[in-house]
Amino acid sequence: MNRVAERLNIKYPFIQGPMSWLTNAEFVAAVSNAGGLGILGPNAGQTTVTSDPRETAERMRTEIKKVQQLTDKPFGVTLIGSNGPDSSVFTLSILKVVIEEHVPVALINTVGAMGDGKAGIEPDLIKPLKEHNIKMVVRSWQPSIEDAKAVEAQGADVYVATGFDEGGTLPKDVLGSFSIIPMISDAVDIPVMLAGGISDARTAKAAFALGAEGVYVGSRLIPTFENPAAQVTKDVIVHSTAEDLKLFRVNPAYYRSLPTELRKQLVKNDQTQSEAEVRQSNAALMGGTSGMRIGMLEGDFEHGYVSVGTGISVIHEIQSVKDVIDEMMVGNEFN
Ligand SMILES: Cc1cc2nc3c(=O)[nH]c(=O)nc-3n(C[C@H](O)[C@H](O)[C@H](O)COP(=O)(O)O)c2cc1C
Repeated sequence: MNRVAERLNIKYPFIQGPMSWLTNAEFVAAVSNAGGLGILGPNAGQTTVTSDPRETAERMRTEIKKVQQLTDKPFGVTLIGSNGPDSSVFTLSILKVVIEEHVPVALINTVGAMGDGKAGIEPDLIKPLKEHNIKMVVRSWQPSIEDAKAVEAQGADVYVATGFDEGGTLPKDVLGSFSIIPMISDAVDIPVMLAGGISDARTAKAAFALGAEGVYVGSRLIPTFENPAAQVTKDVIVHSTAEDLKLFRVNPAYYRSLPTELRKQLVKNDQTQSEAEVRQSNAALMGGTSGMRIGMLEGDFEHGYVSVGTGISVIHEIQSVKDVIDEMMVGNEFN
């Protein structure tokens, strides 16, 4: 049996990557009911910002309970890593809720290797997760052989290697999906999944051929009936190709967006400002992930941005989550 499916107790080795603002209980449950693993991401089910850790955790509890009403299949919640040795108060508050609500899988985002911190998972997350038998799937914002080995030694169940093809926050090392997956999967014994550019049966097949034991998908799942993104966002994705995307620098490394008014300024800054200047000025313009909420959830292409991966060229229609997963997985050799 496929090791990812076995370890996570799911039908297909398919994980829906968490996407800030663009997940909610209905979407996540649809992925899990279709045989993959749905993951509640940052701001799951929300339309407004809170900077209170207690409120953040309680909002996540409400969303977790909704998922549990919609599916009896496994699902996960994102725990965001820090730039230092200890987890943030936000992450620890969500960890507490994950344990109390018996969530079966934690998707741990490690960021240490991206900043000044160390590779691997923040040590304060590991013991509580292990004690409560919560599976650890780890995706670093800056994947590397060193990080994968550190995460393996810490007892993680699955590692996700991310190629530069992905949507969302891009790694600082420009390694495409084709290059990163054999490099990482050859370096460790735990199963490694590929994220970045997987949008149809062909790209999924390529991932498995290159050593991936599972596929980790974000952009392809935005133009689905169940995703909370605005209709105009879904429409623009199915009518765009990778040629419509532009890359620009921002903290911590790079981002891409489809055309919007805000993107014009982000790209202009990239072309005219120094490294130090552009990282700060573009981060301020994007307002953290607020620009994603405005652009993608609200569909305001003047003040927001539309972040997707380079795999969008093969997306031609808005479909149900189940149809997307079936088309990628049925008949594909993944054992
Ligand atoms: C709009 C958008 C938002 C994202 N937000 C997050 C996030 O908040 N946390 C995270 O770990 N990954 C985030 N990601 C990355 C996805 O989880 C996943 O790794 C990525 O989408 C895979 O590449 P693909 O888009 O080519 O399928 C985001 C991706 C997109 C497209």
